[in-house]
Amino acid sequence: MKGFPKGFLWGGAISAAQAEGSWNAGGKGLTTQDLRYFDPAWDKAARDENRNINMTSERWEEALRSEDTVHYPFRHGCDHYARYKEDVELFAELGMNVFRTSVCWARIFPSGDEAEPNAEGLAFYRDLFERCKAKGMKLFVTMLHYDTPVGIVTKYGGWRNRKVIDLYLNYAKTLFREFGDLVDFWLPFNEINASRFNPYNGALLIKDQEEDLMSASFQCAHHQFLANALAVKAAHEMLDSPMVGGMIARFESYPATCRPEDVMQSILDENYKNYFYTDVMARGAYPSYTAKMFEELGVKIETLPGDDEILAQGKVDFMSYSYYMSMVSSTDPNHERAGGNLVNGLRNPYLKASDWGWQLDPVGLRVSLNQMYDRYQMPLFIAENGLGAVDVLEDGRVHDSYRIDYLRQHIEQMKLAVEDGVDLRGYTMWGFIDLVSCGTIEMKKRYGVIYVDADDAGNGTYERYKKDSFYWYKKCIESNGEDLK
Ligand code: BG6
Repeated sequence: MKGFPKGFLWGGAISAAQAEGSWNAGGKGLTTQDLRYFDPAWDKAARDENRNINMTSERWEEALRSEDTVHYPFRHGCDHYARYKEDVELFAELGMNVFRTSVCWARIFPSGDEAEPNAEGLAFYRDLFERCKAKGMKLFVTMLHYDTPVGIVTKYGGWRNRKVIDLYLNYAKTLFREFGDLVDFWLPFNEINASRFNPYNGALLIKDQEEDLMSASFQCAHHQFLANALAVKAAHEMLDSPMVGGMIARFESYPATCRPEDVMQSILDENYKNYFYTDVMARGAYPSYTAKMFEELGVKIETLPGDDEILAQGKVDFMSYSYYMSMVSSTDPNHERAGGNLVNGLRNPYLKASDWGWQLDPVGLRVSLNQMYDRYQMPLFIAENGLGAVDVLEDGRVHDSYRIDYLRQHIEQMKLAVEDGVDLRGYTMWGFIDLVSCGTIEMKKRYGVIYVDADDAGNGTYERYKKDSFYWYKKCIESNGEDLK
């Protein structure tokens, strides 16, 4: 086959926590992302030090009491909750035929455990979804993109408690019941491997409270796998044409050299950081290398009789992942390190890095698509991909040729993967409207083809502007990925 198949889905992705703002409006409860602290006055070193790991017991307590929005940027996001009607018009103008967003659990169940859902939260998402459908967009909905009601942690101790599986399942069933007529694709969890690479975001764990962080993160992952499988099972029982997917952050890992030890190391890294999570969700069972991996990492988790059956009964219908960078595997302790990857890694001399140090690798996208499809033989989606960069607004435009180059190179590789025979169904570029960065909590790290006039301190008009990449991506979508000039 030449080019993308007819009906290929082109769109953009955002998450509630990073976009919505209006943190205490519409009956919404406080979430774990609303508590993440950022100081706009931090210099680069302080920003680096605080990214991804910036939750401590002290900060948590302080944040619970604070009404401040400047130091808690997820509380303002890009003001999407207040401007969603205008935003949907812009999304439609872009021509996208799929929209990936997440539902904020705390807009539906403010503390996570109420008996009845919050009507205002349901009404917000219904209107948003109906407007998107009216514009011809399919909906790709993440049910949990890190922002968990704070009550799930304060009352239940987070994902380490099995009781949270029931609360999550009640929330999941509410979404299927309320929005099953509108949503086309469901993702129970964003990047389910985050419990490993970012224990606070992924598993709600605060480092200074953990004696054995590694075991705790895998215990939480076990409960999330069960919740994921039970959500898949519920969707299969409740919905007419359910499509429920798995999702990870994919860290493609190349051997640093053809030294056999490096090749073996890359297999282990792939298994431990990527495939472990997708294997459980796609195959419905823990993979054969689990015991060895747990032994090497010193992990001990508790399971119950019946867990294996739950996993086996909840295999996902498709697989998706975010793809931003590739990694290098080596057994050489002196191999040079790369600065800023989402997960700290080794330097690849063949790749250039973004302003935030992420090693950009378009060909790696083709590699990962081939490997994922070969392993699972199920439909794939690229749920996230994009370039975080500093943009300058000049005369109402942003001349972001660097972002166009990035998108072009990645889309070209996706096209080659499709021609390789991969069953790729869609592409939702990340942060297609500027939003607060998940890792660094900055507004300055922009991904969008739509610029939002707000800075790191939350100052600005929040007006939306189309970047050069908006017009480029529109042409790409219109031509089904043929016109990439
Ligand atoms: C993914 C997350 O890991 O990466 C998104 O699902 C996030 O929420 C994206 O925004 C890009 O990362 P960052 O740290 O640049 O925002």
